[in-house]
Amino acid sequence: MDLIGRVSNMSMEELMWVEKYRPKELDEVVNQREVIERIKLLIQRPHEMPHMLFAGPPGTGKTTVALIIARKLLGEGWRNYTLELNASDERGIKTVRERIKTFAGYVDRSVDIPFRLIILDEADEMTHDAQTALRRIMEESSKYTRFILICNYSSQIIEPIQSRCAIFRFQSLSKEDVIEHIKRICRNEKVEFEEEALELLYEITSGDLRYTINLLQASVNKGRLTKESVIKQAGLMGEAKVKEMVEHALNGNFNEARKILVEMLNINGVSENEILRILGTILLRDKRIDHGKAAKILAEYDYRLVQGANPEIQLTALISEIEELKSERS
Ligand SMILES: Nc1ncnc2c1ncn2[C@@H]1O[C@H](COP(=O)(O)OP(=O)(O)O)[C@@H](O)[C@H]1O
Ligand SMILES: [Mg+2]
Repeated sequence: MDLIGRVSNMSMEELMWVEKYRPKELDEVVNQREVIERIKLLIQRPHEMPHMLFAGPPGTGKTTVALIIARKLLGEGWRNYTLELNASDERGIKTVRERIKTFAGYVDRSVDIPFRLIILDEADEMTHDAQTALRRIMEESSKYTRFILICNYSSQIIEPIQSRCAIFRFQSLSKEDVIEHIKRICRNEKVEFEEEALELLYEITSGDLRYTINLLQASVNKGRLTKESVIKQAGLMGEAKVKEMVEHALNGNFNEARKILVEMLNINGVSENEILRILGTILLRDKRIDHGKAAKILAEYDYRLVQGANPEIQLTALISEIEELKSERS
């Protein structure tokens, strides 16, 4: 078979290290010991398993653990009995309700599974009203379904839902844990690495293992990982994110753009000055943009940041102005 054929036959699992190294057993999950111990107990009695709420920062194992539970309790055909939904992607609770209802309503008693499982990611992005509707759906369907709700902040989930769930708090992964884990990946992939490069990987990605592994894979060059290659790759990835943010802003998707901004600032720890610098290069290269207007605005916000204004507020205001930077001709 030629190379192209071989590559297209490879699954995502083989190509992407985040997937290839996604734990399939509870004991392979890095840290989260308290969570893992409690879950081991709960799944011993599948029929008594409560709804669950997983809270914690990105890239710490929430989805991974939910999928392990699905595999353990629902067996070989787990995919048929598991519905994975992303609450913030769906157009409102109506779609969620329809999909959950169809899924939960179909009960095949001939198979021996304790329940159907609904994994609802980004549940904290749902509005208060949507969550109230969700709570009702959870009640109506609880005979044959269990929910695992996933969120970053449990405080954003309405109390009546919280009180119906067993809550599990995932912790940000420590430096030692992250470095040990990526060392193992490097050995397995026969990557020669500089110790300093691993430390830098942790510093840039601050405990988000998805980001760490993605950055690691992208930084490896001819079987070698160096500090320089990590710095270079992190810059490129930052640029890709800012580009995505600009596209959303230009298309009038302010909320999506803002989400990326907040993620870069608070989770990836990119500094406000770095974001502004990248934004400058991107806007001034973009043919759809009135460069004169863009330069003025960039200078204005640069000044405000130097004066010590709140970076998140200022940059949010800046992205709200991007749509108006479109040049008349475009
Ligand atoms: N605790 C962990 N132990 C091992 N790998 C992890 C852990 N957390 C995240 N990962 C890695 O990061 C990827 C994304 O993890 P995921 O569980 O989807 O994170 P999230 O908490 O955002 O749902 C996984 O595929 C896995 O490679
Ligand atoms: Mg997840």
